[in-house]
Parts: sequence; C-alpha cells; structure tokens
Amino acid sequence: MIHELIKLKKLREQVEAWSSLVESAQAALDDPNATSEAATFFKEKKWSREDVGALAKLVAKASEELQIEMEKAKKAPAPEEDEDSDGAFIPSQAALSTLQMLIEMVNIDANLLARPQGQGLAGSDTSQQVRELKAEAQPSPGQKLFYSVLDEPGARYFTEGAKAVAWRWANNAWHAFSNSPAIAPLAKKARLVIVGDWGSGVGRAQDIANLMRKEIDAAPGVERHVIHLGDIYFAGWPKECRDRFLAYWPVKPGGEPGIASWCLNGNHDMYCGGDGYFDVVLGDVRFAQQKQCSYFALRNDDWQFIGLDTAYDEWHLPARQVDWAADRFKEKPKAKGVLLSHHQPFSSFESQDKAKALAEQAAPLLKNGLTSAWFWGHEHRCAIYKPLSFTFADGSTGVLPFGACFGHGGVPTSPKRESPPETLHTLTATESNGFFLTKENFARMGFVVLDIDGAKGRLRCIDERGNEHFTRDF
Ligand SMILES: [Fe+2]
Repeated sequence: MIHELIKLKKLREQVEAWSSLVESAQAALDDPNATSEAATFFKEKKWSREDVGALAKLVAKASEELQIEMEKAKKAPAPEEDEDSDGAFIPSQAALSTLQMLIEMVNIDANLLARPQGQGLAGSDTSQQVRELKAEAQPSPGQKLFYSVLDEPGARYFTEGAKAVAWRWANNAWHAFSNSPAIAPLAKKARLVIVGDWGSGVGRAQDIANLMRKEIDAAPGVERHVIHLGDIYFAGWPKECRDRFLAYWPVKPGGEPGIASWCLNGNHDMYCGGDGYFDVVLGDVRFAQQKQCSYFALRNDDWQFIGLDTAYDEWHLPARQVDWAADRFKEKPKAKGVLLSHHQPFSSFESQDKAKALAEQAAPLLKNGLTSAWFWGHEHRCAIYKPLSFTFADGSTGVLPFGACFGHGGVPTSPKRESPPETLHTLTATESNGFFLTKENFARMGFVVLDIDGAKGRLRCIDERGNEHFTRDF
C-alpha cells in the first residue's frame, strides 16, 4: 500500500506538470505576437488552440481520475504479506491510462528509452518492466516504466501522436463497431489455449507466451485455437498492440495452418478509441477467422464458445449481442455453451455492482441451462468459482455451473493469500525478487488449456513456472 501511494503521488506530480505545460501552451497560443520559444514551437508544430484544448480536456479528466484512485488507495485494506507488496499501476480509468500511454509513447518517439532491463536492483529474469528511461532523461534513478513514466514533460510531448490521441479523446471518435460476427466451425477434437489480460509486453508475459507455445506444439495434429480475453496496455494504441501484443503472441507472424487466434475487446483496448484492437490485432492474418468483429461463435455439435464484447461500451452487453448468443445456443441445444468475455459477471475480490449489472444483462443466457461455463478476465487473478446462482430484477433466477476468472496472464499484481468462500480454487502462489528494501512480491501469472474430444473436455490451469495447479473434466 505504501508503494501504491508513492506511485500515485509521483503520478500526480506528472499530471500536475502536464496541466501547467498545457496552460503555458494555451497562453503562448493566445498571444498572436508572442515570440517566446514555446510560442514559436507550437506555431512550427501547427498546434491549434483546439488541439491544445483537446489535450487540456484529457489531462483534466486524468487529474480527476487520479484523485479517485488516491481515495481508493487510502481506503484499501493493508496487504496480506509480511512485506509490502508491489504491483503494476494499471487503473481502470480511461483518461489516466491514455495519459500513461502518451507519456511513454513520447519517450519512445524522443528516443529516451534505454535498453531492456530487469526489475529492481536484483535485475531478476522475472522483470516487471522491460524498459527504463535513459540516465539523461531520469529525474530520479530507477524509474519504472510500467508503473508510469515519471519524466518531467516538456515541449517534445506535443508530437503528432499526442495530437491524434488528444483529438480522438476530446471528440469521442471511437472505432466503428461491427455487427458481422463470425460463426466458425470447430473440429470434434481441438485444443483451446486461453489467456487473459496478457497485453503488457513485460518479460513475465513473454514467458507465459513461451509456455503457451509449448502447449500449442504439444498437440501437432489437432486443430488449435489461441484466445485472448482482452486488454492491451496502457490504452490499446496501435503501437502498443504491435509492440506489446502481436510481437510476443505465441502464434507465429503470418499465421500457421491449423492454428487460429481470437481476441476479445477489453476496457484498455478501447481507451484509445479501439483502432489498435479492431485494425491492428483483428486485422492481423493470425486473427483472420474473427473477421474484425469483436464477438463471435466457435462451435461444433458438442461445444459452442461464444465470445462477447463487454468493453466497447464499458461493462455493457448490448441486447443485440445477448439475443444473437441466445439464438446460437438455441441452434445447438445439445452443445455445451461456454461464454467468453473480458468483464466478469461475478467477483469475490472487487465490488459486485458492475458485475451484477453485467449478469443482469446476460440473464437470458444464464437461464434454462443455456450456459455451462463462462470464462472472463479483467481482474488480474486466477479464480475458479463454485456454481453461482443469480436472482434477476424480475425475480427470475439463473445458474452458472462453472465460472472462472483467468485475468492473470500478464500484469504484475499484488499477491492475495486468501481463497474467498465462493471459490473452488484460486492461484495463491507468489513470485518474488530483490532483497530487503528492494524486495517485491507478485501473484503468479498463468493461462489455461482446454482440450475437447467429442462431448468430453479437460481443463488444465498452468502457472508461470509450468505447473498444473487445477484440472477439471467436463
Ligand atoms: Fe480490463
């Protein structure tokens, strides 16, 4: 928790510095006769008052969101570990995430990043972030990019990229939503490799990809599907999608016969408007089966997997998708229905309000035994729940026999020791590196493999050391 507040305070300094930078940009542009360095810079770069206004709007919103995060951190319970625990700072806040991305993007453009480094003084191979700022760009040593870049902003932040992000933000210009979902055939015998919240690009996420690749290679004659449950950090910008996601995705560039990739939309993927998700990820040949639509069905007579988009309109499941999924389930009444989504319909760890509202929207899918299982991400944990019962607003009820959160694919997260009563299993193992003051503890990451053969299925949960920590036969 101490770490959390330090990170937030440093980020606040950063946001405040951005605010004053934007103010001075506005002042320079307001004075047509200004000949200061800043005024000349903005004129040369062709930043208009509207451009700066858009950035001002983004920074003001980020500042508001940061205040909310600080209040949350103050109220959060103390960590369960003896030592203070550390995790990446990844708020589910749109403007703040966009600002984090912008800061890093500009540092990359300005060539201020040093070569990849391990985490902390120990420099262990379980590195939390892959890059640090070059010494000349560091106001203090040991900045951790994945928390936030804590560099003093200067005029160089006003790049074309920054202008595009700010404009997009100010104008709510989201990528178009597609209503042409793929309905893809699934072989009787197939292997599904599923990972959630993996798009961080950190060393440990790359290790997870290598383990996923082993599972892909271990079933050579079998149809294989590799599925991401959403979230590429910080804000799903096209460059982030290329550098943090596609560069390490376990299916080889160009695609491979017999292996299809699928990707759900996550809240972070939408923070930049969704261009990276829809155009860069779904536009990649490896994801061609998905036809650039954020919801889909993958099915045979025994199994039907339905991917849903709960992120385009954050936490909302449009009725159109629910109706579409219900129709697909009704077409294959004997197939086991499995839902896949980024957001959760239930949580033992976070506030239930949004999850409850999502389950309410999905009510038609949770009644009459239509859904046998639901896998989701968003929370950066591995938690498998006992059968869950839902009572909806109209008094009707539904049951989810097998619900699981698999959002532990790639974000460094503080460990949790307890297994809440609703859970059947949680991954509580931890990783740590560094010593004494530099020591940091993290929850272990992982992914899952589901092998289907006719009506039978076997689920295996694998952690980042390659250990199977949970199995289930269907
Ligand atoms: Fe998320």
